[in-house]
Amino acid sequence: MRKLSFLLFPACVLLLGVWAPRLQAQQGDSEQGKRVKSEWTPAPVDGSGQPRGYVQFQEYCSACHGKGVDKPGTLALQAKYKGEKPAMLEERTDLSTQLVKLYVRNGITVMPFFRKTEINDADLDAIAAYLTRNTKQ
Ligand code: HEC
Repeated sequence: MRKLSFLLFPACVLLLGVWAPRLQAQQGDSEQGKRVKSEWTPAPVDGSGQPRGYVQFQEYCSACHGKGVDKPGTLALQAKYKGEKPAMLEERTDLSTQLVKLYVRNGITVMPFFRKTEINDADLDAIAAYLTRNTKQ
């Protein structure tokens, strides 16, 4: 058994050496030699002139809570409040910082919870400040 694994390793290295360049060549063909930019690369957010927390909200929340029919957060809140409250979080006037932090740290239904290693306290403070900027405290 030991002898076999001793042979297996060089065999794998050899196979990789033969196949890797071929795979690369295939990929290159399908993209006609051009480097295609991934659609998932996020565009840098321009926060100039925007209130505090705007940039962080765009980065962490707008994929679900932005404007449009493809935003699950906005859709879910539209269904939940049926026009009683704005479906977009950014237009709400009733959110409190405690509530925003509670949802972000715990998640709800399909909204994931975010650990401190994902969104640190300073960024969450900024997001909460942004979403409560129109709330009369
Ligand atoms: C993967 C999609 C997704 C992401 C990312 C996401 N959310 Fe959500 N969020 C949802 C959905 C869906 C709901 C509605 C859940 C329900 O009640 O059914 C929701 C609900 C909420 C609510 C509750 C609002 C209410 O009145 O019930 C808050 C507050 C909230 N999100 C804040 C945030 C913030 C802040 C971020 C960014 C840090 C964020 N969400 C990121 C999907 C998301």
